[in-house]
Amino acid sequence: MTALSVFGARLEERLQRRTATVGVVGLGYVGLPLAVAFARTGFRVIGADVDPSRAPLLANGTSPIEDVPTEVLAPLVQEGRLAVHSSTDALSEADAIVICVPTPLGKSKEPDISFIVAAADGVGRVMGPGRLVVLESTTYPGTTDEVLLPRFSREGMRVGEEFFLAFSPERIDPGNRTWELARIPKVVGGVTPACRHLAGLLYGQIIDRVIPVSSTQVAEMVKLFENTFRSVNIALVNELAIMCRRLGMSVWEVIGAAASKPFGFMPFSPGPGIGGHCLPSDPHYLSWRTRLAGYEAKFIAFADEINGGMPDYVVQLVVDALNDQTKSVRSSRILALGVAYKAGVGDIRDSPSLLIIEALQARGAHVDYVDPRVPQIQVSGHVLKSATWEQVDLATYDLVLVLTAHAEFDPQRLVREARLVVDTRNATGALGTFRHVIRI
Ligand SMILES: NC(=O)c1ccc[n+]([C@@H]2O[C@H](COP(=O)([O-])OP(=O)(O)OC[C@H]3O[C@@H](n4cnc5c(N)ncnc54)[C@H](O)[C@@H]3O)[C@@H](O)[C@H]2O)c1
Repeated sequence: MTALSVFGARLEERLQRRTATVGVVGLGYVGLPLAVAFARTGFRVIGADVDPSRAPLLANGTSPIEDVPTEVLAPLVQEGRLAVHSSTDALSEADAIVICVPTPLGKSKEPDISFIVAAADGVGRVMGPGRLVVLESTTYPGTTDEVLLPRFSREGMRVGEEFFLAFSPERIDPGNRTWELARIPKVVGGVTPACRHLAGLLYGQIIDRVIPVSSTQVAEMVKLFENTFRSVNIALVNELAIMCRRLGMSVWEVIGAAASKPFGFMPFSPGPGIGGHCLPSDPHYLSWRTRLAGYEAKFIAFADEINGGMPDYVVQLVVDALNDQTKSVRSSRILALGVAYKAGVGDIRDSPSLLIIEALQARGAHVDYVDPRVPQIQVSGHVLKSATWEQVDLATYDLVLVLTAHAEFDPQRLVREARLVVDTRNATGALGTFRHVIRI
């Protein structure tokens, strides 16, 4: 049993009864599913997003996020269970506030926590006794205690007694239908045991399992370790792909057979590079923080070098494939399949596809693309519009380049109709080997 102050006990009861109002700051890939989950569980939810186009769209009941269907969002908005505003000032009635704003990198790959600072300042303006604030944005160990705590303690309110502060990393995998929000255990670290208890209670209303840890720093580190683990392992298989090519064997066959080992091995897939808001950025939050403590992270730098080199490696695969057919990249017609950073989503943040298309264009190729989830992109200042998979004539291209394995791309048709394929995702792997299909 955690000893609670009067404010803590009151909040505990409101959370248990689900009469508390939950505020969510930042309604993107992380915040919107969370706001919807709380609203569906019976909480009154107030969301705030400063993007001038997003708040009106959501307030209208329209969802821009694949994992939140408009059919689910619209009734919650219409029934007043989820209200959306463009300013954090609207959160003055919220008992528990969760912050889910972006944490990108600056120009020298240093953490840019300006969104967290702005959100915390906004929350600070409406902060009052009895409130719980949880930071979910991925960030370096120490952010919650060093950046948020002083802002909320300003009025002389004592943490753990008059207000409560915790960190709980978001671990969702957009587009993953198997591991939805409720089924992903939630790690929670509080500034004090009361903070941790109340934050755990909040998440326990919508998530099957809460994993308490000893501090906010440990919770912050857990998330960075998870994504560094992925980044390093992806770098390892990317390098394995390069080595297998040199030695004349299929990396996919090697990984597939290795994955038959029932213990001590976990398969990762090579590809054209890592993208999205998390993997390319999060490990740098860790290496930046440890550098301040006098330690230079080695695996992170090495993984970054290998993963960051994959777009160029793919461009070289394309150059070689065309060359083998006595063609040059210059003046060739190339169709890129998929520009989102991974299958099933329309997120192009840090997508390696954009770098690859740009590099091919710079070498004189004419590049079109198809992505059912991304209607248009900007490459080198020019807008490209997506062709449609059903209508595009694959046979008219010198080469079709698979960059994202969206389910819509029928591999049978691809192998049948395209003249030459470079497949960076093994989308065609189940169909066997073909002379005109080159895999990473
Ligand atoms: N996308 C993922 O798969 C994922 C998974 C786990 C963790 N995360 C982490 O979660 C955090 C959020 O990521 P995301 O993908 O949801 O970002 P996102 O860009 O999709 O959404 C963030 C939203 O916050 C809004 N915002 C920014 N500043 C604000 C402010 N001061 N007040 C109110 N709203 C504000 C933005 O307008 C945007 O709509 C990041 O730290 C990210 O690393 C992301």
